[in-house]
Amino acid sequence: MSTPTSPAIAILGTGSNAPARVLTNDELSRQVDTSDEWIFTRTGIRERRIAGPDESVAALAAAAGRFALADAGLEPGQIDLLIVATCTPDLPMPSTACLVQTELGLRERAACVDLNAACTGFVYALDHAWALLASGRYRHALVIGAEKNSTLIDWADRGTCVLFGDGAGAVVLGPARPGTTSGILDAQLGAIPGTAELLLVPGGGSSPLAPESRRHIAMKGKEVFKFAVRGMEEVTRDLLARNGLSGADLSLVVPHQANLRIIHALAQYLELPYERIFVNVDRYGNTSAASIPLALDEARRAGRLKTGDLMLLVAFGAGLTYGGALVRW
Ligand code: COA
Repeated sequence: MSTPTSPAIAILGTGSNAPARVLTNDELSRQVDTSDEWIFTRTGIRERRIAGPDESVAALAAAAGRFALADAGLEPGQIDLLIVATCTPDLPMPSTACLVQTELGLRERAACVDLNAACTGFVYALDHAWALLASGRYRHALVIGAEKNSTLIDWADRGTCVLFGDGAGAVVLGPARPGTTSGILDAQLGAIPGTAELLLVPGGGSSPLAPESRRHIAMKGKEVFKFAVRGMEEVTRDLLARNGLSGADLSLVVPHQANLRIIHALAQYLELPYERIFVNVDRYGNTSAASIPLALDEARRAGRLKTGDLMLLVAFGAGLTYGGALVRW
């Protein structure tokens, strides 16, 4: 279990931003051999957002970050750590975080870095930021998940093109407000050795074996599905057990939004009524690292969180990676 911190580090604000362009299942079924019925039944997805060529990941991220700062009531100059979780950075270098720093007007003495743990990226970034804030060396962090997955899609591959979308979500972390019990309670991250080939983009990095034409998501869907359920269940079980909690103690679960059937499997495992699981995969598809902060922001705005509520954030992704965090709202 992670070391208790004094004061607790809490989520002080949330924000999100998605491109305006909606791509529906019906539109996709005019491009590839699929149907709204197939996609919805197998994944729960109805539509996703697609960024235009002029909408950068940095711009999506900055907009989400701006909303989160306003929600927290903080000025950009008060942020001293920025982590952008993304596996679709605008450029190999500099980091997307450095582009967002300039766009948001963060100060020079702010540490700015990208983190890639694919769809688990936001939970990884949250845990890293929490640890750095708990060290006392940083006071306020902006943690953003932002993706332009549409740039990694083979639009002729019906097995993957129906699943993903673009978007961004953000949280501001800092010392919990006095008189509240709010704070991150615990987190656990992991990665399953030997599973890289199940979900990857085989080209586009520095590997000489990877021609540009292979810069598309390749996936063994059925196997990823099984590991996803296993990873999310195991990390949830460990987090609850070592904190003396059970599924019944959770007021809200915000799972990675990849597939409604995976989310249902988790709900069943936790024996939780469906109302306690937040779902927006129907409207965004899988937005990778943006998925949890985008869902968290929507959950909050929909009044699904009250002060004192216990929440679980839980994700899986390429790696294969997985991670979970317990947060008292
Ligand atoms: N439209 C219509 N048919 C499709 C299709 C589509 N978009 N995609 C695949 N099919 C077909 C397949 O070709 C196959 O046809 P066949 O039986 O004639 O060979 C059939 O549908 C069943 O395919 P299968 O891959 O077995 O379906 P599935 O039930 O496993 O569902 C996924 C496929 C991708 C939806 C599912 O495996 C999944 O969600 N896996 C997890 C993926 C994930 O979450 N990735 C991100 C991780 S962060």
